[in-house]
Amino acid sequence: MSKPSAEADCPAAVAQFLTEVRSIRREFVQPADIVLESAPLMHQLLGRADEFLSEMHQHSSPDHYTRNLVHAEPDGSMSLFCIVWQPGQWTPVHDHGAWGLVGVVRGALHERAYIRTDAHERENNGIILRRGGTCVLCPGSVTTFVPNPDHIHRAGNPRGSEVVVTLHLYGRNMDNYNIYDMELGRRLPVEIAADNEPL
Ligand SMILES: [Fe+2]
Repeated sequence: MSKPSAEADCPAAVAQFLTEVRSIRREFVQPADIVLESAPLMHQLLGRADEFLSEMHQHSSPDHYTRNLVHAEPDGSMSLFCIVWQPGQWTPVHDHGAWGLVGVVRGALHERAYIRTDAHERENNGIILRRGGTCVLCPGSVTTFVPNPDHIHRAGNPRGSEVVVTLHLYGRNMDNYNIYDMELGRRLPVEIAADNEPL
């Protein structure tokens, strides 16, 4: 599959969205400000999803949820994915080490939060996680996250539901992230392929 990353490959709606987010990034440094200012833009982008989400952006797999790359900034500063979640497909518990925006195009994405309660915020061992709340995000919903402290969560689509399609903008090229082993109290950095591989 091709990996659309050049600006020329960008549909108008995506190009406009990225241009506006880049402008916000020039104006704001704090991740919390970037997602605050960018969330309405993601909401607008969801309203134009039919203009640019083609079949190549909506591949899915019976084995795992599927990350379809829509755009990656050449300098690695941002990446936009369309993720397709078949019923019963979930991420592991993870954090991204970056800010991000998530918008729901179709179906209902479930997000479960986890709260780190040990005193070693940056360590990869000795981690104590407690379960937090749950969100059910419907078409048009936008949620955001920022790093440090890490936003720890898992997302997915419960069995018996319809297929879920979501857009994810990350504040870096999302080719690795951190997964958590709750029983062992460990955080593990994991490399992830940029296209059509489980996140
Ligand atoms: Fe995530």
